[in-house]
Amino acid sequence: MGPGDLKQALSWLPIDEAEELLVGFDTADDAAVYKFNENTALLQTVDFFPPIVDSPYLFGQVAAANALSDIYAMGGKPLTALNLAAFPCSLGLDHLGEILQGGRDKVREAGAVIVGGHTIQDNEPKYGLAVTGVVPLDKVVTNSNAQPGDILVLTKPLGMGILASALKRGLVSEEDIMPAIKSATTLNKAAAEAMIEVGVNACTDVTGFGLLGHLFVIVNASGVKAKVEVEKIPIWDRTVEIAKSGIVPGGARDNRAFLGDSVVFLADSPVPLEILFDPQTSGGLLISVPEEKGEALLANLEARGVNTRVVIGKIEEGPPGLIEVV
Ligand code: CO
Ligand code: CO
Ligand code: CO
Repeated sequence: MGPGDLKQALSWLPIDEAEELLVGFDTADDAAVYKFNENTALLQTVDFFPPIVDSPYLFGQVAAANALSDIYAMGGKPLTALNLAAFPCSLGLDHLGEILQGGRDKVREAGAVIVGGHTIQDNEPKYGLAVTGVVPLDKVVTNSNAQPGDILVLTKPLGMGILASALKRGLVSEEDIMPAIKSATTLNKAAAEAMIEVGVNACTDVTGFGLLGHLFVIVNASGVKAKVEVEKIPIWDRTVEIAKSGIVPGGARDNRAFLGDSVVFLADSPVPLEILFDPQTSGGLLISVPEEKGEALLANLEARGVNTRVVIGKIEEGPPGLIEVV
């Protein structure tokens, strides 16, 4: 669901306060944070969606990596996961088995364990996980503490939504876009470990609201503005040409419409702007780190094998929630 529709739907839901609830749904953070004891907070998150690739095993991996990512974005460690699956039995149960196998393999790689789940019949397959994790209370990384002077680091290229649209229309094959698919199956675990070790001010993962949608959540919640340099943003091969031909997911347009005047373009962009709003599945971490720690973070990401680690902009004092694109 797009950010505008979601906001309207949630406006009907009263915000329940509890002393132990440190981060609830009102700040649109990646996972809920619930104080469990004096040292530890529980993290809870859930994500599921229809296939974005053809191969069921790869889809299971992407969906699980995406769901686990919200735990990593909070600086946490996943412990347990529950499968959520909707499936038309006409598709063949071995197909469902491969999806679940893909999910299971990613959960194991994350050092967590699948402890159960729930499956329903549905015309369109859907798969994902509800994940529970933990984080030391003093190490929680929220989306609301970005500070003027921070630099913004992104750990995966953009364009997965546009490539998946082209795949659905048969304009590219799975093989053509395999680097992007492999990246979507890659856990944000190593990136999160680097971030935790260095110590950062704020983080989120880039998913359905696109790069600028998720950056907006950070700057809005933190009461600051951001400046983004389009030329620095890493983008998957073929994405620009496909976006130029008009193949763009509806979600990219919804995301752009929702942000409206919050995003100001100060210069002509060398790439189609829809890419900056393109809904990502299992996208990278977007990290706000003090400038003096930037080099240490980039070196630590490299040492842990994180292929993409790009400074795409910075945080400045200014109207809360404003994003300037240059
Ligand atoms: Co998230
Ligand atoms: Co999520
Ligand atoms: Co059940």
